[in-house]
Amino acid sequence: MERFSSPEAACRSLALEIAALVREKPDARLGLPTGRTPIPLYRELARLHREEGLSFARACSFNLDEYLGLAADDARSFRAFMREHFFAQVDFEPRNVHFPNVAGEPEREARAYAQELRAAGGLDLALLGLGRNGHVGFNEPGSGRDSSARVVELADQTRADAAVAFGGLANVPVRAITLGLAEILEARAIRMLAFGAAKSEVVRRMLLEPASQACPASLLRGHADLALLLDEGASTGLPR
Ligand code: GLP
Repeated sequence: MERFSSPEAACRSLALEIAALVREKPDARLGLPTGRTPIPLYRELARLHREEGLSFARACSFNLDEYLGLAADDARSFRAFMREHFFAQVDFEPRNVHFPNVAGEPEREARAYAQELRAAGGLDLALLGLGRNGHVGFNEPGSGRDSSARVVELADQTRADAAVAFGGLANVPVRAITLGLAEILEARAIRMLAFGAAKSEVVRRMLLEPASQACPASLLRGHADLALLLDEGASTGLPR
């Protein structure tokens, strides 16, 4: 666990680590999260691309998850979010950018997504946010270490947290496709970001309570190369 003075400082540090990885291994495979948390990270990576020549031209991305039930061009989809906050600003080849296909039969597409990632060789680096109920990607409470990419029902709290973005709870999708904890745990390295006082309780549970499916993020603790990057607000529940 590392504590930073601000989300921007944490994201600068993580962006430098990602840049070093991509310079050493230009075809690195990155697992990417959505949400408010990684926005400063994507901004900093875009700056490194623009000002310091960091190139993602051979890199590969696998987004963690995507809502089911939205139109392909819906501005609230994670695909649209990623285009706006990251892909439009950097030089990924479109063929190297991966999302679960939400147009087909969902269970089959979830299995195909896991297979696609496996065939590519798995993730070099999984970047993660953290849901207030301990979810990772959309691995909601009850998800086990060996859960693979699949269709999930979103938890009430997760839907409530997304309500503003969807203009009301009734509009929030009820299902999604997510990579499982199994694919995430197979990543060579895992870096999780959590910022703000609203995350302090779940950070405390993740790190200090016995690992359990009730807090899926806690199941990542056994990984050999996991780092959690926090700001002051998110770390208030931890001993100093
Ligand atoms: C979403 C995503 C997660 C993300 C989480 C936290 O539901 N599926 O991958 O980590 O919510 O979002 P935020 O960063 O906005 O707090």
